Amino acid sequence: MSASQKVIVVTGASRGIGAEVVKAFRKLDYRVVATARSIKPSEDPNILTVAGDIADPETARRVISEAVDRFGRIDTLVNNAGIFVAKPFTSYTAEDYAAVMGVNLNGFFYITQLAIAEMEKHSSGHVVSITTTLADHAIDGVPSVLVSLTKGGLNAATRSLAIEYAKRGIRANAVAPGIIKSPMHPEETHAALGALHPMGHMGEMSDIVNAIVYLDSAPFVTGEILHVDGGQSAGH
Ligand SMILES: NC(=O)c1ccc[n+]([C@@H]2O[C@H](COP(=O)([O-])OP(=O)(O)OC[C@H]3O[C@@H](n4cnc5c(N)ncnc54)[C@H](OP(=O)(O)O)[C@@H]3O)[C@@H](O)[C@H]2O)c1
Repeated sequence: MSASQKVIVVTGASRGIGAEVVKAFRKLDYRVVATARSIKPSEDPNILTVAGDIADPETARRVISEAVDRFGRIDTLVNNAGIFVAKPFTSYTAEDYAAVMGVNLNGFFYITQLAIAEMEKHSSGHVVSITTTLADHAIDGVPSVLVSLTKGGLNAATRSLAIEYAKRGIRANAVAPGIIKSPMHPEETHAALGALHPMGHMGEMSDIVNAIVYLDSAPFVTGEILHVDGGQSAGH
């Protein structure tokens, strides 16, 4: 194990975009800590998996302490775990509210606190959160206030963290996707969802992975909300 090998923690890593992030950063020779409720152990000695509900602060504590025990440090945290509950505003239930707040906000807050505390020890680190372009431009026909409430909060928190840590070697950025072909969206919905983008099609998971890889290799970029959305945030 090389001391210069970087360490990345990825939440929501059991499938979809998170699982692709794990693969991409292994190809870049990072050591990876992957967490989700249903994550399975890996045969790759450079992948540590930690199963748990990211809404629970205890999961964040286990992920970060096991990451440091096994790999010694944390260079990058990707806050990717997230849920999308789209409903008319008055139809949201208290359970919907608790679930979305739990994954999207608790799931960001506790692990980011602990990861940044580790990064501070080396005066170096990077936090990337996956938000959504919907937080910046709501779409008629896709009512999703709880998504905007939480992901818009993450965009604001990203800028706030970027400024708080700008002189201490720690960067914070976000990727704001349009609608991406992941297990979140069944194939039969793709044509209709694609039509919601100026480009007329959905994005690929690799579009989001490439944006994360770019941000992680961009030392002068912090506080950026990088829209990867087929033109949605530019206009309609
Ligand atoms: N796909 C899109 O169109 C799109 C658009 C905009 C933004 N995004 C954002 O991109 C991120 C990834 O989306 P995706 O499309 O890859 O989603 P996905 O295929 O549904 O995967 C979600 C991941 O989050 C994990 N997760 C969900 N609830 C969790 C919990 N309580 N505790 C721990 N992990 C949990 C899941 O693992 P377990 O079930 O094993 O826990 C899974 O690994 C999300 O933040 C999403 O909001 C996606």
